[in-house]
Parts: sequence; C-alpha cells; structure tokens
Amino acid sequence: MSRHRAQQLASEFLARADAQGWFEALYAEAGNDYAAVPWADLTPNPNLVDWIITQGLKGAGKTALVIGCGYGDDSEFLAELGFEVVAFDVSTTAIAQCNQRFPNSPVSYQVADLLNPPATWSQGFDFVLESYTLQVLPSALRALAISKISRLIASLGQLLVIARGREETDPPGQMPYPLTQKELDTFEKLGLSNQSFEDYLDNESPPVRRFRALYTVASTD
Ligand SMILES: C[S@@+](CC[C@H](N)C(=O)[O-])C[C@H]1O[C@@H](n2cnc3c(N)ncnc32)[C@H](O)[C@@H]1O
Repeated sequence: MSRHRAQQLASEFLARADAQGWFEALYAEAGNDYAAVPWADLTPNPNLVDWIITQGLKGAGKTALVIGCGYGDDSEFLAELGFEVVAFDVSTTAIAQCNQRFPNSPVSYQVADLLNPPATWSQGFDFVLESYTLQVLPSALRALAISKISRLIASLGQLLVIARGREETDPPGQMPYPLTQKELDTFEKLGLSNQSFEDYLDNESPPVRRFRALYTVASTD
C-alpha cells in the first residue's frame, strides 16, 4: 500500500513537471507513521552493512556524506564506524524526523538538493554513499544527479552506489526505476575509477536485483 501511494504521488507531481516535490509530500503525509514510507526499514541497509563488514571499513579521521538519507539509519551506522557524517535529504520533514529520532546524534543532518548541492561540499568527502536515490529520479534527471555526485568525492575518496538493477532491454518499470549498468558507467566517463561491480539478488522476499558498485577518485595533487 505504501509503495502504491508513493507511486501515485510521484505520478501526480511528475504530471506537473515537478520531479522532486513528491518526496516532501510523502514524508509530510506519513508524519510519525514511518511504515507509510515504502523504503523506511528503520535499520541500516543490509546491502551497505554486508559490504562494510566484508571490506572492514573504518571511519576514524574520515568524512562521509550520505545522499538522500531518508530517516537516517545508514548515516547513524556510518557515524558508529567513526566517520564524521553529513547526511542530507531534499525533504525537510525527513530531516526533521532524523533530528527527532536521533536527538544526540553526531551526524549533521541537512536539507539540501543533490541537483544543486552547496558549493562547499565540492570534493569534500572521503566516503560518499548513494543508496536508492538515483533510482527514484526519472531518467531525465539521473545523468545530472550522477555528475553532481561525482563532484562530491575528495581526492583518494570512495563512492559506494547501491541501486536496483536491470538490463537495458528490460522495460524501465515503475518508480523505483532500476538502473542500467550503462547509466552507472557514466561515473567512469566523469573520471572515477571503478573498483568493483556486483550484480546480485538480495535477500528480500521476493529477491530484488541489485547493483553495488565502488568507485574511487585518484589523487588530485
Ligand atoms: C528511496 S529513498 C532512500 C532513502 C535512504 N537512502 C534509504 O535507503 O532508506 C530516496 C531518498 O532520496 C531523497 N531525495 C530525492 N531526491 C533528492 C534530491 N534531489 N536531493 C536530496 N535528496 C533527494 C528522498 O527524499 C528520499 O528520502
């Protein structure tokens, strides 16, 4: 039901050529009923947690940026690893909910638009997490979003992308729109280096095809 309502809101706003407004509308309508937001698990994303455990990634002395942070669980998880975390979302209600859920959090929660991020964030973060935001943007905005993301990573920094995946020959589907590998290849065209690309079925029921890709930025010295 919550996914259906999100799709309904997305269609309504897209019909008015507003690709972003439905996020705030959905969070505001949900209020404290988190279950009304289809992606709200209120727990760190297992596709992130598994990857971090496998990599043995530690955050002490490093900065991290969480894109489209929603209710903040991935951001809190990265803060627990020692990262100094900035997390942002285009929805003011989502950010207010993060501050309400985690009143003593070290994470800096901010309202910001990925398509027009603060200039001070340019090349600013050692670890950038993009999890499930590209896939809720219509394809017309995805290339712009990818180019904005590529500029947020510091010299020698890492970008982890987690998204639904599909073949180019598959239909684009309904929101959330799975990404193609070709769309993610744009990160390399923008100068990032691909370190790993996983294409797998996750443990959800029914299983969902995911892409999980790690990119790095070379030293800019
Ligand atoms: C599918 S949700 C994923 C939330 C969270 N990353 C998670 O995995 O639970 C996508 C999030 O991106 C946010 N978002 C969409 N467009 C955005 C933009 N242009 N800038 C920042 N956040 C955006 C939405 O408000 C929403 O919280």
